[in-house]
Amino acid sequence: MTESFKMDAPVTDRRLDDMVQGLVGAPLDRPEGPLKVTGQATYANEWQVEGMVHGVMVRAPGNSGHVVLTNRDVVAAMPGVLSVIQDDRLLRNPAQGTANEAPIQGPHHAAYMGQLIAVVVAESFEQARHAAQCLQVTLENAEVVAVDPDTAALEPQEGQALDQGDLDAAMRDAAYAVDVTYTTPSHSSAAMEPHASIASWEGEDLTLRGSYQMLKYNRNELADSLGIHPDRVRVLSPYVGGGFGSKLGLSPEAVAAAIAAREVGRPVSVALQRQQVFEATMRRSETRQRIRLAADAEGRLTGLGHDARISNLPGETFAEPVLQASHFLYSGQNRRMSMDLARLHRLCAGSVRAPGEAVGVTVLESAMDELAYKIGMDPVELRRRNIPDKDPESGKAFSSRRFREALDSGAEAFGWADRPGVKERREGEWLIGYGMASAARVNVLMESQARVSLTPQGKAVVQTDMTDIGTGTYAILGQIAGEMLGLPREDVEVVLGDTDLPPSSGSGGSWGASSSGTSVYLACQAIRRQLAERLQVSEPDLTLKDGSATFDNRTRSLVEILQGDEIVKLGHVQPGDTSQAVRQATFGAYFAEVAVHAASGETRVRRMHGSFAAGRILNAKTARSQCLGGMIFGIGMALEEELAFDPRDGHVANHNLAEYHIPVNADVPQMTVELLEERDDWANPMQAKGIGELGICGAAAAIVNAIHNATGVRVRDYPATLDKVI
Ligand code: MOS
Repeated sequence: MTESFKMDAPVTDRRLDDMVQGLVGAPLDRPEGPLKVTGQATYANEWQVEGMVHGVMVRAPGNSGHVVLTNRDVVAAMPGVLSVIQDDRLLRNPAQGTANEAPIQGPHHAAYMGQLIAVVVAESFEQARHAAQCLQVTLENAEVVAVDPDTAALEPQEGQALDQGDLDAAMRDAAYAVDVTYTTPSHSSAAMEPHASIASWEGEDLTLRGSYQMLKYNRNELADSLGIHPDRVRVLSPYVGGGFGSKLGLSPEAVAAAIAAREVGRPVSVALQRQQVFEATMRRSETRQRIRLAADAEGRLTGLGHDARISNLPGETFAEPVLQASHFLYSGQNRRMSMDLARLHRLCAGSVRAPGEAVGVTVLESAMDELAYKIGMDPVELRRRNIPDKDPESGKAFSSRRFREALDSGAEAFGWADRPGVKERREGEWLIGYGMASAARVNVLMESQARVSLTPQGKAVVQTDMTDIGTGTYAILGQIAGEMLGLPREDVEVVLGDTDLPPSSGSGGSWGASSSGTSVYLACQAIRRQLAERLQVSEPDLTLKDGSATFDNRTRSLVEILQGDEIVKLGHVQPGDTSQAVRQATFGAYFAEVAVHAASGETRVRRMHGSFAAGRILNAKTARSQCLGGMIFGIGMALEEELAFDPRDGHVANHNLAEYHIPVNADVPQMTVELLEERDDWANPMQAKGIGELGICGAAAAIVNAIHNATGVRVRDYPATLDKVI
């Protein structure tokens, strides 16, 4: 029944190469697209559950102290109000996937301003909202707590530290050296669909409908939070309007809905307001990063240093892995890296859009640009010269790496040779500049399961609890099954987003398509073998196409072969030693042209190109869209996005999409994406690596480097808003 596979050695059985249906890699549309654009796809807060009532969450008005609801009885007696719930289980931070951790500050204690500390439940949403607004919250015995990373206590992250060779000596002896400190602000994941959950109990069984990225984990988090067995929890999340990390773990509304539904004995819907999403789900840590680069006269790196400071709430274990790609992207034998974590009473920090590399590679690539200009060398050439043969720290080989090709091909496609000197090109009032940066992101395989059924009608059904967070899972899993079983795409149905189905990797860390896709591939392999057995041929001799099997110069339809039977197989992939044996990562290069207004400092990105290599591409359209999305995040990071914290209390001041700017259509120019052909035998049997987040890992640096090329100004404090440019 089950086809299990542990990724312990490079694959030799490259079955996808032998398939002839022509689906994998094709730029197919999303099958669920029409449902989404016609409003027929049900998103989290659109479920109508019979008897459903509404909960509205209430925020902490300060960043410490014992929470007291002073007029609780008055509010509880308001029209329609069913319950006013204060429960310490709400104070946990399940957004980190750490629902089993105790409340940070002890019972009934607030940890940051805006934290959601209570939920008011009423018959109608309006009654609940009104009552929630009337609820008076005081914080007793509040203390002065740290909210500013510049003055907070720092905890060295020993596990992140590296000291190899002698960086100080390398810096001293360098022909060219750069020692610069950059800062990047906190970011909000800013998914389009706000967090919402609907909980309903039937006896001891809980059903949770909502918007989540990793259902298997979310189910366990919720069960753990409530102190019940995970078997009692079913989570449904068929459509997700973006996650970007903020739905990796449950956010407070999910726990609130479950607790409230139990208490009032009715299904309860809790939807966060946009402000609450900004204030109380999670953020990317702000960073301060010092980069040291030592180079010889030929521009070869002799030393590389990366020291970072990040932050999180007291007690939280997540630490933005800023140094991740600095470990392997460039050569340089003398290396030093360190990370300090500031404990702050700001909104919980977690994974947002390529945690680590998004800001780490961006800053490294800004510093590399500074070095290139210092040497007087083409920035592309500086990168080419410093591509290490092996991982410069562990000595491991790279599993696959078309980094040099991405640099060269991207430069060619963009017309990099035509780049101007600093402040050399002007068109009227606009200063024109070119910039580039490298892209790099680690590649990860996660355990994942899927069931594939080949029905007597010769059609396939794929079932897994995997999510599609806008990335194209429905499309890709159908393509893989159709390819392996020789079925037209429309003969494959893909069912996702239900924990009653086999547990998957979930969507996160760019591992979703490759991990869940491999489980589908494995199930289909098992079906192929069973078909071959029936026909008494060996599986590789079986050609499946358009619903028919060809073998021994004969062709028979699947319907005929199945004779009314159904074949059902489970595919189960687990990561193994290959993730330890070699360095697995994805690579690329960005090129950007900007126009900076000479008087106002306003920057417009005029065009942008990215060349990327991420193993086998499963769907050329959805992969390209992921890369475009990443590069658009790059525009946001370079020019706009910044969570602003009130220096007095650490409160998120710009907690809405009007004040937290993300790129809109008018900010996004013509963009081109090139996907380089690549296969990675060490990644998984499909030889595909993750591509979801690669497009953001360094993208902003290409833009900010282009601003320098246009104006001569180095902005070392992201984002490069106009006040910093002029
Ligand atoms: Mo991602 S930031 O792992 O959803």
